Amino acid sequence: MSPTIEELKTMALKSGEILRAGYGKVHQIEMKGLTDPVTEVDKLSEEYLVSTIQSHYPDHAIVAEESGLHKGTNGSCWYIDPLDGTVNFSHGIPIFCVSIAYAENDDIKLAAVYDPLRDELFSAEKGKGAWLNDRPMKVAGSTELIRSLSVTGFPYDQKSPEMQRGLELYKRFSLNAQACRRLGSAALDLCYVAAGRMDIYFEIQLRPYDIAAGILTVLEAGGVVTKFDGATDYLTKPISIIATNKHLYPQVKNLIQEG
Ligand code: IPD
Ligand code: CA
Ligand code: CA
Ligand code: CA
Repeated sequence: MSPTIEELKTMALKSGEILRAGYGKVHQIEMKGLTDPVTEVDKLSEEYLVSTIQSHYPDHAIVAEESGLHKGTNGSCWYIDPLDGTVNFSHGIPIFCVSIAYAENDDIKLAAVYDPLRDELFSAEKGKGAWLNDRPMKVAGSTELIRSLSVTGFPYDQKSPEMQRGLELYKRFSLNAQACRRLGSAALDLCYVAAGRMDIYFEIQLRPYDIAAGILTVLEAGGVVTKFDGATDYLTKPISIIATNKHLYPQVKNLIQEG
């Protein structure tokens, strides 16, 4: 049995309530690495999502950031980021969300991303479209790189070669696009491309739960999403992606691949 988009939206709204209730409070912060925090609210949101999915769909797999892989038996898989933007959240910065995707045999079918502070619910259904609350979304029609707003993010491991590469690309987009932002939530970055707010998103070394929902949302809003080399096996590592519109895509890909 497959879930409906309404089920994902309800789950995103309920997780969002958990995030909203915890926002601005003092947190129990554990560190997964030098700069990589997890709070009790990440865990509460994830426990709600995993238990809800398991109670309705016991044979489905779940890939969740904090508890890892919960195995399934029938090719159905959920990708859950219970709180995307934990660094922002833990500092009281109001840019974070919950991200939920449902896939069948690696094909992303349904997506819901909820920003509880702005009450913005981004959703998408494969072949049917993408919506911000009840309004259909469409990517921006920008054609010129220099007038296009880009956004990116960086891996937590500051010593990694991926961090160096990310910094190089940040510089390149800062110099060749209108500007390059770093908002701190990959799922919202992608949804902002879908909503036509951002023109370009790129990032190196993501995990499937960061971006599965956002990818479907951009595609269903008429955008183009590929890995840096043009491949579309989005859920297979290594995951470094570009999301933009069809006019900018060749320019963005060239800029990323230069040197
Ligand atoms: C992080 C955020 C950030 C991105 C990192 C992610 P988290 O997720 O999405 O914007 O740059 O790559 O790991 O840890 O806040 O869920
Ligand atoms: Ca997270
Ligand atoms: Ca995290
Ligand atoms: Ca994330």
